Amino acid sequence: MLRIAVLASGSGTNLQSIIDACESGQIDGKVVLVVSNNEDAFALERGSKHGAEAVFIDHRGKPREEHEKEVAAEIDGHDIDLIVLAGYLRMLTSYFVSKYKNMIINIHPALLPRFGGKGMHGQKVHEAVLDSGDEESGCSVHLVTAEIDGGPVIGQMRVPVMPGDTPDTLQARVLEKEHILLPLVVQWFAEGRVRFVDGKAIVDIEDIQG
Ligand code: GRF
Repeated sequence: MLRIAVLASGSGTNLQSIIDACESGQIDGKVVLVVSNNEDAFALERGSKHGAEAVFIDHRGKPREEHEKEVAAEIDGHDIDLIVLAGYLRMLTSYFVSKYKNMIINIHPALLPRFGGKGMHGQKVHEAVLDSGDEESGCSVHLVTAEIDGGPVIGQMRVPVMPGDTPDTLQARVLEKEHILLPLVVQWFAEGRVRFVDGKAIVDIEDIQG
């Protein structure tokens, strides 16, 4: 059984999709830890309601690495196999990323490598997609490395951009796919299907749905 930690700063609908998939048996795992740097994050409530330890770790007024060491202490205390960033609005230093090499994944609401990098989060992503004139968008789950949104992509799902879309309507369409893709990728980890070779993700899977 995969022991999962989720780091989230906001409402945590992606966290919920993982919890639901664990409870339904789609994921052979359990969310045992939820960490947030935002005391009011609804993600904390979702976690504790479903049996995870939910911990608020304030980042304010301390060096980035000190905050990360506090997060790492929680992770190490829970024997975690996979760390999922789901709307976690903190950049991670190379200290944290190398300590948990090949163990941290993130969900991003666009088709990386397009529309990723510093400052590309929330509505800004969808605004940029609409401004670009692209006819499709989607979501990506990727390995977290020291480069923001730059680690190898493990899985993606696509959606069309529709005439008349606003950032809100596009976000809602993408979010639906996020809730399908993220549990799928987490289960690939549970099954040991994901490997990283020469900076690329290799997924040993014969039949990818979606
Ligand atoms: C999602 O759009 C995700 O792609 C991004 O942050 C958002 C988190 O949403 N990284 P939620 O808190 O899971 O609802």
